[in-house]
Amino acid sequence: MLSGQMQKSLNEQVNAELFSSYLYLSMNAYFKSLNLDGFANWMYVQAQEELVHAMKFYDFIARRGGRVILEKVEAPKKEWASPLNAFEEAFEHEQMITGRIHHLVDISLQERDHATNTFLQWFVTEQVEEEENTDGVVRKLKRVGNAEGGLFMVDIELAKRVFTAPTAQQ
Ligand code: FEO
Repeated sequence: MLSGQMQKSLNEQVNAELFSSYLYLSMNAYFKSLNLDGFANWMYVQAQEELVHAMKFYDFIARRGGRVILEKVEAPKKEWASPLNAFEEAFEHEQMITGRIHHLVDISLQERDHATNTFLQWFVTEQVEEEENTDGVVRKLKRVGNAEGGLFMVDIELAKRVFTAPTAQQ
């Protein structure tokens, strides 16, 4: 059984993950408008992953006897100054999400809610990857600078990312 505080906080995370998906879809549209299809593909896959994250929280709340409350999802930005600027904001966003996950872990520890704590550990590990991935692209873009050829090399690399649907264990 979830406490009222934990249920509220997990519901807020459903919204945060849905917003993440919305944000990355908006970045997908931005990259498409620049004809950077590889960048757009990377963001499309990222948006799908965020939906998986949202549904993990959604299902967990229900499985623990809680009530999912869906709130309004904020509108994301639509334009960025450059591909680098978009990925810098993606990295900042992931750092913010990591902070939220860690706060949820803190609540689970305070409440001695071991089941929620175990559930959250998947996200603690996932956030290491989320930050590494977004920061990795930021670093590449900083290295290529304004060189058009470099940008297209990164575009080709990001085109290779594929979405893998999670299994029951993931
Ligand atoms: Fe759901 Fe990108 O963290």
